[in-house]
Amino acid sequence: MQIQDSVSTRQTFFEGTPSIGDFFSLDLWLPPQESTTAHQIDGIFAFILIMSTILTLIVTAAMVYFIYKYRRRSNADRAVDVKESKLLELSWVVIPTLLVLVVFFWGFTAYVSTSIPPPGSYTINVTGQKWLWTFEYPNGHQTSKEIVVPVGTPIRLEMTSTDVLHSFYVPEFRIKHDVVPNRYSYVWFEAKEQGTYQVVCTEYCGTQHSNMGALIKVVSYDEFSEWMRNPPDVDGPRNVLGAQLYEQKACNSCHSIDGSPGVGPSWLGIWGTNHGGVTVDSAYVHQSIVEPGAFIVPGFQNQMPSYQGQLTDDQIDYIIAYIKDINGAADPEDLAIPGEEGAEADGAGE
Ligand code: CUA
Repeated sequence: MQIQDSVSTRQTFFEGTPSIGDFFSLDLWLPPQESTTAHQIDGIFAFILIMSTILTLIVTAAMVYFIYKYRRRSNADRAVDVKESKLLELSWVVIPTLLVLVVFFWGFTAYVSTSIPPPGSYTINVTGQKWLWTFEYPNGHQTSKEIVVPVGTPIRLEMTSTDVLHSFYVPEFRIKHDVVPNRYSYVWFEAKEQGTYQVVCTEYCGTQHSNMGALIKVVSYDEFSEWMRNPPDVDGPRNVLGAQLYEQKACNSCHSIDGSPGVGPSWLGIWGTNHGGVTVDSAYVHQSIVEPGAFIVPGFQNQMPSYQGQLTDDQIDYIIAYIKDINGAADPEDLAIPGEEGAEADGAGE
């Protein structure tokens, strides 16, 4: 089952013409609160913002007043004895201390409740890599660039990176957490409403950092179970499956198919070319996917992460079929549906 794409992303931070009052409401400045913990983050944020504003105004007003009062030409009495005021001194010790304690306990409470998922949360594994988010469900079902989750259910994300630092950020859910290689980090959220929400990477991770996004599709529980039973079809000829993987696995963020060079060489025109005695053929492409440093096309740098373990041998074959297809070099087998005619040779299709 294909989840509808028609749900618009909730990125409209504010709709309509803002009135004066709106400028004092966080609704104008922040995206809508779409998770069960978002109000806690906004509450402590608003408190700190308002307190800082008030204190800044008080200090600035006092400063301006004294600058004026003791300006050089004024007749203010400068020789008067200054007596200490116990009340004044206590106030500027006690009030800020109380404020800081309030910020600490309030912030700590919010931190604990946003860090510790409720019991019975649904866990999804998240992998960040240049420049793609992939997701794996408990039943082994994998998706790239989007996840489908049920509304009103706590979702725990167990996250790691295969290469450099990334950061998983969903503005409407007010969750943001670094995703670090060789380490697991966790966030959780419970979406309040159905809709589609944008995930962005907020840790600069290289050329395509700004395109490293994903979508969280929040659907009803029935729709979710239906989708889990019948994940989107992956049927089709090998070259078409390869074309899907080209998008899903974000090959397209570095390799064009129109001949223009990107972070990596374009796939158009590469098939059969010869670099220093090595010909770009199936073995070359296969090795370049699992061990990107094996061959480097002149003029490019060794930037690609390894896809070892991320793509099955069959999937690599589909990508090879796709590359051959766009270069006009496809054999009948490359255009056949896996498991059907011409595909028995390597036992493809499970
Ligand atoms: Cu990943 Cu920025």
